[in-house]
Amino acid sequence: MSKCCCSCSCETTDKEQQLQEVFAKYRGQQGALIPVLQAAQDIYGYLPQEVLKSIAAELKLPISQVYGVVTFYAQFNLKPRGRYIIRVCQGTACYVGGGGEILAELQKQLGIKNGETTEDLSFTLESVACLGACSLAPVLTINDDTHGRLTKNDVAKILAQYE
Ligand code: FES
Repeated sequence: MSKCCCSCSCETTDKEQQLQEVFAKYRGQQGALIPVLQAAQDIYGYLPQEVLKSIAAELKLPISQVYGVVTFYAQFNLKPRGRYIIRVCQGTACYVGGGGEILAELQKQLGIKNGETTEDLSFTLESVACLGACSLAPVLTINDDTHGRLTKNDVAKILAQYE
């Protein structure tokens, strides 16, 4: 927590302060909604409901319009995401090579379903159609790392590298 920049005695979080700086940067600009949403997501890691309300108020837009944009673009997240994003390929080459088993093993070991995030916010699990590394099938990525030619027995060892 840090003190508010004005002379009042209220306190504001660093994140709120950063959001106010984003508002100041884009104030009065046309087409500010998407860059403001991107900046807010960089600050919070996702887009909490309260933040969306603040953005709508600041940009003088109906909240329905803000939600419309957030839900249209896949880059925006309404729920917190993990520190590590696991993308497990279910494209044809990977699926034929056992990608379904890899996904099932990840779900079992992490205790979450596809599309969910672990409670400790360590991992988010997502299935994708093709990671562009079909020669390494079956493949998964964790953030910027690629792991290929997997069997389900590799899953525990790989996860242990990120805990
Ligand atoms: S199908 Fe999995 S990387 Fe292409």
